[in-house]
Amino acid sequence: MIEISSVSASYGKHQALDGVSLNVGRGELVVILGANGAGKTTLLKVIGGLVPALSGRVVMAGNDITAMPAHAIVEAGVALVPEGRGIFGEMTVRENLLLGAFPARARAGEARNLDLVLGLFPRLKERLAQTVRTMSGGEQQMVAIGRALMTSPDILLLDEPSLGLSPIMCKELFQILARIRDAGLGILLVEQNAKQSLKIADRGYLIESGRIVGEGAGAALKADPAVQRDYLGAG
Ligand SMILES: Nc1ncnc2c1ncn2[C@@H]1O[C@H](COP(=O)(O)OP(=O)(O)O)[C@@H](O)[C@H]1O
Ligand SMILES: [Mg+2]
Repeated sequence: MIEISSVSASYGKHQALDGVSLNVGRGELVVILGANGAGKTTLLKVIGGLVPALSGRVVMAGNDITAMPAHAIVEAGVALVPEGRGIFGEMTVRENLLLGAFPARARAGEARNLDLVLGLFPRLKERLAQTVRTMSGGEQQMVAIGRALMTSPDILLLDEPSLGLSPIMCKELFQILARIRDAGLGILLVEQNAKQSLKIADRGYLIESGRIVGEGAGAALKADPAVQRDYLGAG
């Protein structure tokens, strides 16, 4: 459904991505594993239209979205949950979620999407009137994912959603991502938590210094000795 072909990106002279190609299908959960500085965030920002691609293409459901502005990429069905969540701490859970329904593609489905989000995250249902700033890290991550789902995406991009969460919260989060995938969305998940993310991933890619250096089925990557040495050591 989304196809990234030979994408490169730079910050000034520093090349952060060098010919990255990958794809995510409908109903598929794909994880990108890589150390700090490998280019994971940059890749999601290029897909989301927040960093320009120097070369290469991003094609979503047959439409070239490479040079589109970020809001048009959301309208094309791509939702980014950024690192650090990008939610509004002084607003309530309900206000944050409803902001997600702003894109034209999402307005008609607002009530249905809100039902879907509150079904996935019952904890948010009890706390619709709570100010987001006063919630735990895990709950705030739920609000961020909920807001992205309110845009009616076909594909969800997540930048290290497990960062800073307790092991239990992290497990719960990944189980919910698996349910979102089972509902038919494509998910591109960037993670340093290899152990948990490979448990739910259909496929994965390894990224190092801006290049894809490996790929495979989730289970195959988990069993690969090199992956275990480089990515599963601490997990
Ligand atoms: N705004 C920026 N300006 C300059 N260099 C950046 C910027 N953002 C990231 N970089 C550099 O680009 C490389 C990739 O960063 P990033 O995509 O954030 O990696 P990751 O998310 O895998 O940790 C790193 O070397 C980082 O220092
Ligand atoms: Mg990052």
